[in-house]
Amino acid sequence: MTPTDQTPTDPTPTDPTPTDPTPTDQTPTDPTPAPLTPRAHPAAAELLARAAELDRADPLAAYVDRFAPADGVSAYLDGNSLGRPLRDTAERLATFVREDWGTRLIRSWDEQWMELPLTLGDRIGELTLGAAPGQTVVADSTTVMLFKLMSAAVSLQPGRSEILIEAANFPTDRFVAEGVAAAHGLELRRLPSNALTGVSAAEVAEAVSERTALLVLNHIDYRSGAIADMRAITAAAHERGVLVLWDLCHSVGAIPIELDACGVDFAVGCTYKYLNGGPGAPAFGYVAAALQDRAEQPVWGWMGAGDVFGMRDAYAPATGMRRFLSGTPPVLGMVPMQGMLDLIEGAGIVGIRAKSLSLTGLALEAVDALLAPLGVSLLTPRAPEQRGGHVTVGHPRFQAIVQELWQIGVIPDFRHPDGIRIGLSPLSTSHSETVHGIIAIRDALS
Ligand SMILES: Cc1ncc(COP(=O)(O)O)c(C=O)c1O
Repeated sequence: MTPTDQTPTDPTPTDPTPTDPTPTDQTPTDPTPAPLTPRAHPAAAELLARAAELDRADPLAAYVDRFAPADGVSAYLDGNSLGRPLRDTAERLATFVREDWGTRLIRSWDEQWMELPLTLGDRIGELTLGAAPGQTVVADSTTVMLFKLMSAAVSLQPGRSEILIEAANFPTDRFVAEGVAAAHGLELRRLPSNALTGVSAAEVAEAVSERTALLVLNHIDYRSGAIADMRAITAAAHERGVLVLWDLCHSVGAIPIELDACGVDFAVGCTYKYLNGGPGAPAFGYVAAALQDRAEQPVWGWMGAGDVFGMRDAYAPATGMRRFLSGTPPVLGMVPMQGMLDLIEGAGIVGIRAKSLSLTGLALEAVDALLAPLGVSLLTPRAPEQRGGHVTVGHPRFQAIVQELWQIGVIPDFRHPDGIRIGLSPLSTSHSETVHGIIAIRDALS
């Protein structure tokens, strides 16, 4: 069983929210194709040549070499689930153990670790979220942070009776919303959405009312990769006094985000996908400055208290983002992502998005040329402004072939019922690797 989206070790998934099987803009044309070898197929050869050209022209190409090579892996297409470690991650961790922990010992709490959840949050905010300092904190897991911020949000909305969530939202978001709704005596209402394009601002405007306390949405859909219109949707919700919480797991580090400029209230994201923090790396939470001192999260711990070492009888929350901490923050888990943030700073999120579009654009061409003739459907929007960092394709035999692909070192992931997600982490993936992986999918299918 696959416990989270980042550790798909079992290619027999049990995802309880099957993709709507209808969306497709491809028509199967040739159900009995000739067997293909990359070298023998003219379209494959041409795509490989163009990929090599694009790699030569790619201003960020050198970053690929900053990631640790993985023995036996020729195409890693799952950076949208679990980002690769950097070459220097092992040394960074070793230095941390030797120096910050091993030599400075407990003095490091005073010297840096007490502030790290906030300083690292600010760095993520500045480089990737469009968030001014003092609004982002690193702590907990995505699930726990979702619980804390959803609870804080509904507490700010007395008299309102429902949480609205996209019906196709990631399971953890839906389950947490279900629990928060139950705990607060609210109704959880599910907003249906188009499986290919997600929720629109017009649909949100129609669905929210003065009964709605909170709207919870994914910024980039974890299955289709569709980008939601954060600015318009947030504005439509605010028109009715509804607070909005965005899950940024699939967008942070892949596309520019403008939380402050879009007037977002709450956001949560993980750091093990495009921020390469490693399995189980802590989440981040964003709370707009204007809401912080009124918002109360429900897990009261000493690290979120105003006077951490006062050993008071009763809890009184800290001011600002510190109040969204609970217990001792997972400092060790914050080490690897710092190297990735250095790379993001060097490359710039705008350049990263340009590379991402180049990779997904080439992937779409390869899907059209090599997979569509085998009856593979496209489950990702085509328009560049609507697609995020991964491309999803569907075929009834994908579940069986993903296992074969993993064995030969081509690693996409499978999503129920029949989707392969081709995740193209911009700094660690080359155009050639992308085409090579899609050729391997074609070979396995044929
Ligand atoms: C959109 C989304 N939200 C939440 C999660 C997972 O939450 P957690 O980090 O608590 O496992 C994932 C995992 O891949 C995800 O894709």
